[in-house]
Amino acid sequence: MARRKKIYEGKAKILYEGPEPGTLVQYFKDDATAFNAQKKDVVDGKGVLNNRLSEFFMTGLNNIGVPTHFIRRLNMREQLVRSCEIIPLEVVVRNFAAGSLSTRLGIEEGTPLPRPIVEYCYKDDKLGDPLVTEEHIAAFGWASQQDMDDILSLALRVNDFLSGVMMAVGIKLVDFKIEIGRVYEGDFQRLVVADEISPDSCRLWDIETGQKLDKDVFRRDLGNLTDAYTEVARRLGVMPKSAQPMSKPTLIN
Ligand SMILES: Nc1ncnc2c1ncn2[C@@H]1O[C@H](COP(=O)(O)OP(=O)(O)OP(=O)(O)O)[C@@H](O)[C@H]1O
Ligand SMILES: [Mg+2]
Repeated sequence: MARRKKIYEGKAKILYEGPEPGTLVQYFKDDATAFNAQKKDVVDGKGVLNNRLSEFFMTGLNNIGVPTHFIRRLNMREQLVRSCEIIPLEVVVRNFAAGSLSTRLGIEEGTPLPRPIVEYCYKDDKLGDPLVTEEHIAAFGWASQQDMDDILSLALRVNDFLSGVMMAVGIKLVDFKIEIGRVYEGDFQRLVVADEISPDSCRLWDIETGQKLDKDVFRRDLGNLTDAYTEVARRLGVMPKSAQPMSKPTLIN
């Protein structure tokens, strides 16, 4: 068997050279990290769930005309994607206050925001992905004004789509983060939603109970992360057979 060329290994995924030029294979690991990798663990089954969930969201976006890097799922942990030049920004969209916005501005978690708020962070782990303004983005040339208009429009379309899909299964989309990539087609460049959309990159709360069904379960030690992600997948009807919760052994005294 020929050895594949590893392009990049990140905290949650590995990128391999794809079978055709302009493609990559994205492998979803079980590794979970938080607080810029200060907290780490292996969460059995997380990669399988995120591969499925990201496929589900990206396919839905492609179907409504929001371009993404997703081509097709290859197996339990891998998907084929278009290779992009990633814009070095984390694009965050918030519908309710939570996390760093609550801390920064002293707004109680769960407070509805007057309108979706879009924030940009500069992708640099060493700096802890700091919040930046459009001034920084323009001055340092990370994206052009045209790119910024397109990024905003993509981010809001993703927000409308994801909010609706989640609302339909009784889940509130509090906030999420996406990454945007450039793909080149001849003389043209196009922006697409890249990386992943999964409970690792969203805040998802049960509408009735407020129960957290996202990576905050890991960040804040609120229980079993796989159970939370499995619940999201189950509600969306995308639960892979192998990720079904196994009955746990019962201790008999
Ligand atoms: N279609 C794509 N083409 C090229 N790179 C991509 C694509 N989709 C995602 N990536 C990049 O692949 C990497 C995925 O790995 P992972 O999410 O584990 O990284 P990470 O540890 O979170 O690091 P980073 O801070 O770079 O996101 C990210 O750097 C992401 O920007
Ligand atoms: Mg990442």
